[in-house]
Amino acid sequence: MHKKTLLSGIQPTGRPHIGNYFGAMKQFIDAQTLGHHECYFMIVDYHALNFIKNPKEMKSNIFNLALDYLAIGLDPTKSIIFKQSDVSAHTELTWIFDTITTMPYLMRAHAYKDAEAKGEDVSVGTFNYPMLMASDILLYDTDVVPVGQDQKQHIEYARDTAEKFNRLFGNTFKLPEPLIFENVAIVPGVDGRKMSKSYRNTIPLFAEREEIVTAVMSIVTDSSSDIPSNVYNIHKLFKTESELKKIYEENKGKYKALKEILIEDIDKFIAPLRENRRKLEKDENKIYEILAIGAEKAGQKARAKLLVAKKNIGVL
Ligand code: ADP
Ligand code: TRP
Repeated sequence: MHKKTLLSGIQPTGRPHIGNYFGAMKQFIDAQTLGHHECYFMIVDYHALNFIKNPKEMKSNIFNLALDYLAIGLDPTKSIIFKQSDVSAHTELTWIFDTITTMPYLMRAHAYKDAEAKGEDVSVGTFNYPMLMASDILLYDTDVVPVGQDQKQHIEYARDTAEKFNRLFGNTFKLPEPLIFENVAIVPGVDGRKMSKSYRNTIPLFAEREEIVTAVMSIVTDSSSDIPSNVYNIHKLFKTESELKKIYEENKGKYKALKEILIEDIDKFIAPLRENRRKLEKDENKIYEILAIGAEKAGQKARAKLLVAKKNIGVL
């Protein structure tokens, strides 16, 4: 039986946090374990080039994200793990999409609007970001894309672009669906806002115990209630609501004690991941080998799809 395709990507822009894990990466592992899909997981380095202009940093971020993927349990014998820049079909298809996409349409993208609102000099790459992401997804006949809530609009751009191309040039691309779980769609950070690298409110996924202690102790609490909601909302990721009910009743108003319990729960969860990562980082060559094999497999599928698109637009 032909399996459906699941694909996602993360930018190599720094250390992942538990928001990335519960919002997206956990779904990668679950999909791999279930085995119902052919799974593709990318390191989207060309997207990250919009933010990172230091080659040493880029190289080390790519290596670190590959390690992160493997340390959470992604297995190159079960999933295809690769880096976007190794498959040039992504940028080539982006050009084709650019020619059927209008500027006003791209101006409605949140990422562009946010950069504009901050008064930044927006690069063409940032403006065009949704078209590169559409290519990432559509080249693989992707059915589902596991991501957090903030990426929903980008998947709508991919669907719209597929529809427009199909209308103009005949049925070529499949329409992808986002996979977003409501309870983890927006994991809160230590200040109660969405956890994000750019807000500096994260709990890193591979944090050392001392980092977990510092982050949890800095969770902002509101002294007017018995249950510190910012602590509780992070705690929910690690324990069931019924387990938490007992703990929060027994420790009503005792914020420090509740934070200490949360530290233990997070550390228990992170310790084995940290350990895995330490073991894996010793064999640098193996990491690059895995990416090379992934690029070869992904490249085959992407090149075949690009060929069909090129025939359909009439250049072949
Ligand atoms: P950041 O905002 O920290 O830079 P990224 O944009 O690199 O995070 O996100 C990588 C993946 O993690 C995306 O699928 C994104 O939707 C998801 N994600 C990021 N932050 C959260 C969050 N706080 N809650 C749920 N998912 C998230
Ligand atoms: N834009 C996504 C993010 O910032 C990363 C990304 C690029 C992606 N291409 C993708 C995610 C394709 C899923 C599928 O997190």
